[in-house]
Amino acid sequence: MMALFFGCDIARLTEEQKKKTALIYATRYGATKETAGWIQEGMQEPVDLLLDIESISFPDVTARYDHFIIGSGVWIGGVHKKIIEFLESRKNELSGRVLATFVVCGTDGSTENGRKRVDGYFTPLYACLDKRPLLSRYFGGRVIVENLTDEDREALRVFYKTYLRAELRSWDRTDPEKAALFGGEANRLLGEKVSVSEPTNNLVSRV
Ligand SMILES: Cc1cc2nc3c(=O)[nH]c(=O)nc-3n(C[C@H](O)[C@H](O)[C@H](O)COP(=O)(O)O)c2cc1C
Repeated sequence: MMALFFGCDIARLTEEQKKKTALIYATRYGATKETAGWIQEGMQEPVDLLLDIESISFPDVTARYDHFIIGSGVWIGGVHKKIIEFLESRKNELSGRVLATFVVCGTDGSTENGRKRVDGYFTPLYACLDKRPLLSRYFGGRVIVENLTDEDREALRVFYKTYLRAELRSWDRTDPEKAALFGGEANRLLGEKVSVSEPTNNLVSRV
């Protein structure tokens, strides 16, 4: 019986020592969750976990993990409010531990205007952090019109009509390969044991 308890203690200790990276995402329609999954695949680290911001305990997660990769979809101009709540409320504990951030959106960041808009999506995330993460990137998302709530469909219809002068249609710009490459970059940074709290210039905010 003593040996069993001893075994349990060892298992708990090993578990505690094996602190790891948590991949936290916020999604409404699934594209951000899928993107987080492709990032995880690219990291080739089975220990990295996928956590939905809607179902985590903030203190628990900050205690359990060393590093964080945090991503959100973008809806009507902004990221998920719970991601901001998480970063704001755990600011001290998260200091220097947010390795990477990403957003999943409809904006094409390859044009000057698009790039500015995408930068704007990162602004509230960065505002909650004392240092910018080493890596940041935007990914294309998806809209399937028939899956939208009535409220979201109406909001997007108005946006398309007013700003794009077009009818709202379904589209899919998700990119598994781009996400997996990002995961590989994040993994290399972890492997190199670069201090997350001291970003190098060439790695900061590559969106
Ligand atoms: C109601 C609504 C509003 C959106 N607003 C924006 C926006 O302001 N900027 C943008 O780039 N994309 C916008 N999008 C596109 C989303 O970012 C894209 O659908 C993304 O895949 C959402 O993530 P999710 O699939 O994980 O919910 C919007 C999508 C919806 C449904």
